Amino acid sequence: MLGNFTYCNPTRLHFGQDALQNLTEELKKYGPTVQLSYGGGSIKRNGIYDKVVDVLRAAGKTIVEDAGVMPNPTVEKLREGAATARTHNVDLILAVGGGSTIDYAKGVSVAAWFDGDAWETFYKQQATPAPDARIIPVGAVLTMVGTGSEMNGGSVITNHAEGLKIGKVFDERVMPRFAILNPEFTFTLPKYQMVAGFFDIMSHLMEQYFSNADDNTSDYIAEGLMRSLVSASRRAVVNPQDYEARSNIMWTATWALNTLVKCGKTQDWMVHMIGQALGAHTDATHGMTLAAVSLPYYRFVAPFGLPKFARFAEAVWGVSAAGKTEAQLAEEGLNALETWMKEIGVVMHSSELGLTEELIPAVADSTIIFPAGYHTLTRDEVINILRQSL
Ligand code: NZQ
Ligand code: ZN
Repeated sequence: MLGNFTYCNPTRLHFGQDALQNLTEELKKYGPTVQLSYGGGSIKRNGIYDKVVDVLRAAGKTIVEDAGVMPNPTVEKLREGAATARTHNVDLILAVGGGSTIDYAKGVSVAAWFDGDAWETFYKQQATPAPDARIIPVGAVLTMVGTGSEMNGGSVITNHAEGLKIGKVFDERVMPRFAILNPEFTFTLPKYQMVAGFFDIMSHLMEQYFSNADDNTSDYIAEGLMRSLVSASRRAVVNPQDYEARSNIMWTATWALNTLVKCGKTQDWMVHMIGQALGAHTDATHGMTLAAVSLPYYRFVAPFGLPKFARFAEAVWGVSAAGKTEAQLAEEGLNALETWMKEIGVVMHSSELGLTEELIPAVADSTIIFPAGYHTLTRDEVINILRQSL
């Protein structure tokens, strides 16, 4: 473990089929007014809304309705939600949904009492809320698996007018105080969303794994999580009601991006940067944007980090190293990744998400370039990767 790091994760998790029972106890810690934030209506159709509202009512809470959080939440919705929270002086924001709703709730939690433009300050300028900032506590009931938002400080907001989709990683004050994780709450997800989430998990792990060359415990943890995901996802696509598979995936998703496997790592995140830029221009599903650009990206950067890509082939995909060069192993590992992606059914081409040759320069301009992986991309290289992803 080279480098220095601080590890702290304050989110209390309640996991399993009976997890919602713990909401009653959690609610006792907060004042009477709860902003209930949710998406476009899936929780009303599948009954989760009624279950949560029953608990809130039994706890004597005043509910402030905050519906309509869209996938890839927008800056306009963030401003609306912040105004709602401030007007009603809410004591808790309870996000019931996937990454979009939880990310949005975190944004609202810092924006509500901030006397400035939260988008400019926290997202574009990446500022940290002041030490004495008033931040509303957030709780989460997770219904879509993939982002890890239930146990991290990440909050991704889209500004269509500016062609930007920016993630801010807030500190412990903004991370959910608690999260309810019932795998059965994800059973009603359409297959497209389910597998997009599976790829998002894999991508989070790869983004952290493909950096550094030292022997690091974080990489062994990431490999174990990737193997669990591959195994369980193969079962879940055949039978989405397979509780064992879906529960393993839910738990894997949380650990893939809850600040653990990044310890001691510089990390990469360029797949997410290109994917988010693609999302800013197309509003495509997050996990699918990552799927569409991953193979062109990794095939391009693998030569710069061959030992790790060779290890990936062996440790995650079980490729035999006998008689092979590192380059051959790396290639076989990425081929195995491709086979798995096709097996679970993710989008393999960004043209299916709305990317066109004409749009590529604008997407490249919206791509934030980090220097942290095995190779720092140039704008021309981003363009080539996008072109190959078509
Ligand atoms: O809006 P509703 O009607 O609820 O429908 C949602 C939405 O259309 C639906 N859904 C969710 N749970 C369901 C369900 N449908 C049926 N049954 C259920 N149980 O699924 C759709 C997608 O939901 P969404 O929350 O948008 O998906 P996801 O969890 O993938 O979140 C995506 C957002 O998270 C950001 C992404 O950029 C994107 O904006 N990310 C957040 C991260 C973080 N906080 O650390 C990291 C990620 O890399 C990611 O960037
Ligand atoms: Zn992601």
